[in-house]
Amino acid sequence: MYATASRAPLRYNARMSLLQRGKDSMSKSQLLFERAQCTIPGGVNSPVRAFRSVGGTPRFIARAHGPYLWDADGQRYIDYIGSWGPMILGHLNPDVLAAVQRALASGFSFGAPTEAEVEIAEEICRLMPSIEQIRMVSSGTEATMSALRLARGFTGRSRIVKFEGCYHGHADSLLVKAGSGLLTFGNPTSAGVPPDIAHHTTVLEYNNVEQLNEAFSAFGTQIAAVIVEPVAGNMNLVRASTEFLAALRKQCTEYGSVLIFDEVMCGFRVALGGAQQLFNIVPDLTCLGKVIGGGMPIAAFGGRRDLMAHLAPLGGVYQAGTLSGNPLAVAAGLETLRQIQAPGFYDRLSQQTTRLAGGLQAAARDAGVPFSADSLGGMFGLYFASQVPRSFAEVMRCDVPRFNAFFHAMLDAGVHFAPSAYEAGFVSITHDDAVIDETLSIARTVFAALQR
Ligand SMILES: Cc1ncc(COP(=O)(O)O)c(C=O)c1O
Repeated sequence: MYATASRAPLRYNARMSLLQRGKDSMSKSQLLFERAQCTIPGGVNSPVRAFRSVGGTPRFIARAHGPYLWDADGQRYIDYIGSWGPMILGHLNPDVLAAVQRALASGFSFGAPTEAEVEIAEEICRLMPSIEQIRMVSSGTEATMSALRLARGFTGRSRIVKFEGCYHGHADSLLVKAGSGLLTFGNPTSAGVPPDIAHHTTVLEYNNVEQLNEAFSAFGTQIAAVIVEPVAGNMNLVRASTEFLAALRKQCTEYGSVLIFDEVMCGFRVALGGAQQLFNIVPDLTCLGKVIGGGMPIAAFGGRRDLMAHLAPLGGVYQAGTLSGNPLAVAAGLETLRQIQAPGFYDRLSQQTTRLAGGLQAAARDAGVPFSADSLGGMFGLYFASQVPRSFAEVMRCDVPRFNAFFHAMLDAGVHFAPSAYEAGFVSITHDDAVIDETLSIARTVFAALQR
């Protein structure tokens, strides 16, 4: 114990003195990344930020405004990450800022209910009618984990079904990959997840209706819940087919399993009523996050009243949170929800996103680079493949080295896409014509260089 404790500061000091010596030739982001790695595992608080899949140094962000980010070296970037989805209004929206400032003046957190929490619950229930009751939590992971516990408590069953390529946060039951066959147990995708927990999760192929039907025939009466991203945004962007979602609804109804739409990413992103409105499918439970907090840490799960009645303090399914419904996050969320209801908001957002996706496709075609793009609302996917993928296996066949070269060339020229070929991108309402045009003009040069 003593040896470990005394060695750590030595390593820290050695690294810091090396940094001191190299500091004139390194950018501030490089220096910060080196420094961060002394005290933060991998130098980041969430793995994708470390640039491991694209290589190089992550940009440390100093500030943001509208569609732009500025890094610690003062370099400006057009931002297509949008904090991984929440910043639908762009950064530092003045009315969201004012709402948070007003809330801030009244106190940060009370650990007791507030009127604003009732308002945000009413607003979300009104905008997504499948949600009759809702519970606020602090992260998407908490939302999906709690929704699964509720489904298990409600049905008295243990087994859950998820789909390859969908990400639902990092709860143990969800860090699971498929076994070798339909009837074999799921296997953990992370060290630290006990196989006994993974065994309760069955992983099926996204958009494969036949396999879904087979699974329900084989063990439908054991399934507590099926959880799905109705627009997948964690294997790049992949739309669910309407037949797939309809089959999910039909089978869950027939077998008494709970259908959970994980709309943490696509909720209020692809349409005002989320993917469930676009596809006209009513889930039993919905998980939300990201946009409903406008960049502050908040998420939620909600749905059928009879199901939600099983949650503590009414029912026997326990769920709680010290900062749940935090007043600052609720203030940011309420103001964001107010602004996205402005007439024409989603038409404009979709128009700009389509313009970006279509423009990138045209630039790649002109340069002779095999490339495709897709978008829904303010969410888009870029694929180094000739056709838009419809499954995890197809996404896996995209040309990753080419994406990485594209990513770095765009970044160097001031356009920040997500640092991974397997992530969706996000456009905000502040990405106006000039911003999209600037992106496309840079992309034309980059695609032409890629083909050389
Ligand atoms: C669809 C989906 N569900 C759940 C989560 C987990 O949310 P959080 O990162 O807030 O825990 C994410 C995160 O990106 C997500 O995209």
